[in-house]
Amino acid sequence: MNTNDKYKTELSILSKSGCGVMFTRTREPYRAMDAIKELAFAEAIPFGQWDSVNGWRISRPSDAPGAKPHAQKTLDPLAAMKWLMNVDGGWEPEGWQAPGFFVMHAIHPWLEKAPAMVELLRQYVRVFPTMSKKMRMVVIVPEHVNLPDELTHDIPTVDFDLPSIEEMSDLLQYIVGSSVPEGHAVPELYTRGERETISAAAGGLTQMEAELAFSRAIVENKSPEDSIESIPFDKFNGTVLDAKTEVVKQSEVLELMEPVDMSEVGGLDQLKEWIDNAACAFSEDARAFGVDAPAGIAAVGPPGTGKTLIGKAIASRLGQPLVKFDVSKCFGSLVGQSESRVRSALKQLEAMGRVTVLFDEIDKSLGGSHQGGGDSGVSKRVLGAILTFMQETKAPIFPIYTANRTDSLPPELLRKGRLDEVFAVMPPNKEEREAILRIHLRKRKQNVRKVKDIDVAVRASKGYVSAELEAAVKEAVKVAFVRKVEVTGKLIAEMLGEMRPLAEAFPEDFARMSEWAKNNARLASSHSEESEELVEPRSAVQAVRRRRIGQ
Ligand SMILES: Nc1ncnc2c1ncn2[C@@H]1O[C@H](COP(=O)(O)OP(=O)(O)OP(=O)(O)O)[C@@H](O)[C@H]1O
Ligand SMILES: [Mg+2]
Repeated sequence: MNTNDKYKTELSILSKSGCGVMFTRTREPYRAMDAIKELAFAEAIPFGQWDSVNGWRISRPSDAPGAKPHAQKTLDPLAAMKWLMNVDGGWEPEGWQAPGFFVMHAIHPWLEKAPAMVELLRQYVRVFPTMSKKMRMVVIVPEHVNLPDELTHDIPTVDFDLPSIEEMSDLLQYIVGSSVPEGHAVPELYTRGERETISAAAGGLTQMEAELAFSRAIVENKSPEDSIESIPFDKFNGTVLDAKTEVVKQSEVLELMEPVDMSEVGGLDQLKEWIDNAACAFSEDARAFGVDAPAGIAAVGPPGTGKTLIGKAIASRLGQPLVKFDVSKCFGSLVGQSESRVRSALKQLEAMGRVTVLFDEIDKSLGGSHQGGGDSGVSKRVLGAILTFMQETKAPIFPIYTANRTDSLPPELLRKGRLDEVFAVMPPNKEEREAILRIHLRKRKQNVRKVKDIDVAVRASKGYVSAELEAAVKEAVKVAFVRKVEVTGKLIAEMLGEMRPLAEAFPEDFARMSEWAKNNARLASSHSEESEELVEPRSAVQAVRRRRIGQ
């Protein structure tokens, strides 16, 4: 069912069950109003809409097409609300007092400041259902608005959601059709799968934003003499994705990120294998067979081990856009602001449909939410809202939570059954270090096959985390350029010798983490450090260090 029909159905059920006043939160107030008007006319009753520029405008189903609506120019929202029932005239039948659906748009700034308006709404909640002539009121507010508590207890909220992916698909066909000269057949653009990808790329946009994005994709990528079919799919999809990036940028909480290719991630074979299997579970065939949609994973481990990197690579493995959900930005200074930001971000995610969501460093933003800290109530509610959403949503959203520490994480996040798997991402073993060094040498234009003594760097890097290996390669390439020498494993080892590995700086943290991982998580890599041939711990590094300081 499309979001328009879903909304009308919910509103109609509430209305028939005697509910007189309803709230709607939406990013698309005008589409919501159109839907309410359709509903009113289908029930053969008038439709009224009020805003602070025009006052009331009331139209009847019997009006001739294009006829001017009945106008009532009260611009003060409280007076306008009173006019409906002629409250100032002693509730005598002089206002409208006839059946109809009445929408008040964007009155939220007054709801906060005018207690009389809150009171009147509460009176309407009681009066409307008792009237023989059915009057219904819908108050439409933007998605991020928090309604006064005393109202939300009495008044149900029916949200008007962003267009579904199917609606996007119809919209795409409509825009393609309207860009073809009259009298020409409307082409079926691209393959079905490609059209689905474009529709999914537009997910999370309002109808107007999507229309603009599709039209732009046509205008920007086609010269006037070419046909619409000449636009390469990648270009079309790219323009739509760019439009979405712009819209997502306006969200304080979400950020669209560039995924990275799995080939940029060294090691972590267990995690990679797991994700290969999970990728199959995202297919329509798997769903039809009865396979549950993956619930998401957590990647826990010391800093610099590649948790964020693997998160980005998972998105590209799943072929999904990647969105970072910044939980710390949810916390607003006003009461209730946090929850409304989370709600609005989750709604946008849902509308995006297929998406990988990275909750990066979740311990830093939520840590302590179970420990009774100052904002514990808020963090708990924020986490609760996220977890419930992830569990209930039908959209193929794949969440990845990363954290350094588990001791400060709320236990409900890692509770058994909540996620598919909790992976411990530890410092790389020998094979992994070699793979990671090669990846970073290649990224810096080095011919990996010709780099000498790579084994020296592999041995010297024992105990370092991946990010430190990258830093050493980066430094070695720079030094080689300055010294006019070749990049070698020995040079990388020398650079490593100048760094103090995190594991050495924070030995207790690393030990605690390893202990936790052994007992509570699945290792992201299959080869354990013990399988390595024994090297004197960090002896190679120490030798280099001693040489450098002339011992
Ligand atoms: N397995 C890996 N293969 C290749 N490069 C890696 C790997 N892990 C980390 N790196 C490099 O180190 C950088 C930092 O890694 P990343 O940000 O993913 O670490 P992290 O585990 O998220 O750290 P933090 O806990 O501090 O957020 C990456 O951008 C990447 O260049
Ligand atoms: Mg990180």
